[in-house]
Amino acid sequence: MFHMGWFVGSGFSVQSWRGTWGGSGAREWMKPDLYVDMARSLERACFDYMIFEDGLMIPDAYQGNMQAYLKYNMESPRHDPTALIGILGQATSRIGLIPTLSTSFYPPFMAARMLATLDHLTDGRVGGNLVTSSSHRAAQNFGYEKHFEHDLRYRMADEWIDLVGRLWESWEPGAVVFDEETGTFADHTKVHTVDFEGEFFRCRGPLNAVPGPQGRPVICQAGGSPAGREFAARNADTVICVPLGVEAMKAYRDDMSARLIANGRKPSDCKVLYLVRPVLGATDDEAREKRRRIQAAQRTDDAIATQLAVMSYFSGLDFSQFDLDKPLPDLTGQVNGHQSSMSRYAKDSEDGKTLRELAATHETTVSLELVGTPDTVAALMGEAMEEVGGDGFLISNELDRRGIAEIADGLAPALKRRGLIRESYTHEYFRDNLLEF
Ligand SMILES: Cc1cc2nc3c(=O)[nH]c(=O)nc-3n(C[C@H](O)[C@H](O)[C@H](O)COP(=O)(O)O)c2cc1C
Repeated sequence: MFHMGWFVGSGFSVQSWRGTWGGSGAREWMKPDLYVDMARSLERACFDYMIFEDGLMIPDAYQGNMQAYLKYNMESPRHDPTALIGILGQATSRIGLIPTLSTSFYPPFMAARMLATLDHLTDGRVGGNLVTSSSHRAAQNFGYEKHFEHDLRYRMADEWIDLVGRLWESWEPGAVVFDEETGTFADHTKVHTVDFEGEFFRCRGPLNAVPGPQGRPVICQAGGSPAGREFAARNADTVICVPLGVEAMKAYRDDMSARLIANGRKPSDCKVLYLVRPVLGATDDEAREKRRRIQAAQRTDDAIATQLAVMSYFSGLDFSQFDLDKPLPDLTGQVNGHQSSMSRYAKDSEDGKTLRELAATHETTVSLELVGTPDTVAALMGEAMEEVGGDGFLISNELDRRGIAEIADGLAPALKRRGLIRESYTHEYFRDNLLEF
């Protein structure tokens, strides 16, 4: 069996409002309703978790201004996903809920308290997707001139999670006694200062919130660079990634297993999930036709501009400066943003593709091509996991109610029929379900 998650790739933002199936709710994107429906559907499908991407600025990397990002609502707006998690927790009872948090800018004390609070509100089902953020613009929203250098960010993240972990442990188990006879809420001998003096952070502690049912919420990690993977090997319960094709997926899992062992952990301690965007139809032909339409739509000028803006955002380089009809120049060493994304662009352009071709065909969010009926796709997913030895998939499809139903009520039942995913949840808490197999 493997695990399933859904990556809400545009975060708590406007979803599919120009698509055919956006519905009237698309204009009420700042309300929780779509996500509540989604969380309930995915819980019916027995998904492990839902994860919300996040960012902390409106980019202007493409053409040096915010036009593309605001016009096409890309990477913006971003409402705070942590607020949404509390509401989704009320509407569901088993699915794991993961907001993204930046270790570079979220103060450790605030993050520890917020996740502890959400862990209570969700009855032990919260996680944190820890990212280091990649753009100077985000840094400038927090008073810095520019963002910290790539590997330094991960050193900071290491110290950040160390401190956050200590804050979660600053209340011993049994510290809350609730003894009505003596009128005692908490036993003060079981609550301790942390007196943390690090290279980047200092904190006295203890946490002024009671740690949640899980104690330590599930930690998720997405950075694919060597420094990112090391951070995950030390700290993460789940890793989300986009290696291209079965061979690369297997290499990623093997590399993570080796790193986990080197850090004194078992490979099964951290679940590696791969991003996919299944294209589903009632017949294989219908799904192929849908895929053909999606690919054709990627070739319009608008779509190419959108893709270049995404690439600019990820890399921090303005892709409007390069000739669309020539191959991408060698950009090694010029990037302080997402290094793993940049290696993907470089790899995709190895065969002399022009930038236009690259932008029209590049898929930032797919490890594996999955096109067909739910049953065809379920079989492909099963075969891939068999070969890869990975732990599951993360759906990153466009978000509207029809798309959610295709996955929750089409694909998930097909996966269940094949015995590939769980039929019901065994445990109450998120981490226990995640680590069950
Ligand atoms: C599947 C996936 C999801 C990600 N989600 C976010 C996110 O929500 N917010 C963010 O700032 N970065 C996100 N990232 C970026 C990574 O967390 C990381 O910052 C980036 O990949 C740069 O690190 P790297 O050089 O180690 O790859 C994501 C990356 C991947 C592969």
